[in-house]
Amino acid sequence: MSNEEKSTGDVAVIGAGNMGTALIRGLLGSGWTNDQILATGPDPAKMADLEETLGVQTATENRKGAAFGETVVMAVKPQIIDGVLDEVADSLQPGALVVSVAAGIPTDRIEAQLTGDQPVVRTMPNLPATVGYGATAMCAGDHADAEHLVTTRRLFESVGSVVGVDESLMDAVTGLSGTGPMYVFQIIEGLSDAGVKVGLSREDAHELAMQTVLGAAVMARESGQHPAELKDRVTSPAGTGITALHEMERGGLRALLIDAVEAATDRSRELGDHG
Ligand SMILES: NC(=O)c1ccc[n+]([C@@H]2O[C@H](COP(=O)([O-])OP(=O)(O)OC[C@H]3O[C@@H](n4cnc5c(N)ncnc54)[C@H](OP(=O)(O)O)[C@@H]3O)[C@@H](O)[C@H]2O)c1
Repeated sequence: MSNEEKSTGDVAVIGAGNMGTALIRGLLGSGWTNDQILATGPDPAKMADLEETLGVQTATENRKGAAFGETVVMAVKPQIIDGVLDEVADSLQPGALVVSVAAGIPTDRIEAQLTGDQPVVRTMPNLPATVGYGATAMCAGDHADAEHLVTTRRLFESVGSVVGVDESLMDAVTGLSGTGPMYVFQIIEGLSDAGVKVGLSREDAHELAMQTVLGAAVMARESGQHPAELKDRVTSPAGTGITALHEMERGGLRALLIDAVEAATDRSRELGDHG
């Protein structure tokens, strides 16, 4: 599919901060043209800067964004999304798709702020979306159909990969991929410390650890092989791989990861219940 074919109409990004700007960069690299994107934010200087660096239209008036977009991405912080939805509700085009990236805000809460049967899709991207390698999960609200999910998939595939889930699993997504970059940063730092422990300079250990995680992830994605098969390929009889694997199993690495994801999922649910 050419970039031209991938673009799906005018997109407004309400609250162009880290995530909103990452998405705009992704869209511009995936076939959307500058005049198809309008970003909003309260600070005129930041908006002027965005206009200058990315060449998209900007406004400090959220209603202008709402009126512009066939798709309107709500990329403000969860703490203020209710007020911003209330502000823009009357300006949305009838049938415009509202896509939220706000962590922990359910679709029914968003729908309740809007008038009519406005379609809503909730997404949970993660931090690597800012470098084009995000993992995003999405779920549909009551008035969103398959076509709205296709549109949302196209938007977020511009910054990584996308899966569709039932909304009841959004806390699990937060526990796995939302929180996930932290697990991997810890692993990189831990491997780097390990390299120093066995005599490497900090600089070399960090470079080797980082590139090893990146290379293994690319292999896991591109080889089409199950991680267990890849693991078998790097564990030779009586070799270093199987010796290290024994230590990792003794330390309970797999159980630790499961515990961590489960705890983060529970915490996400708890924050949602009280937030
Ligand atoms: N960052 C992530 O890794 C990540 C991952 C998953 C989901 N998310 C979600 O993405 C959303 C944005 O997070 P972020 O990290 O991008 O935060 P952020 O950088 O602070 O972006 C929020 C933006 O909203 C703007 N804003 C503030 N008040 C506004 C208003 N009344 N109307 C319109 N815009 C307003 C802010 O402008 P000023 O800076 O000028 O105040 C800022 O540019 C959140 O809902 C978060 O849950 C983020």
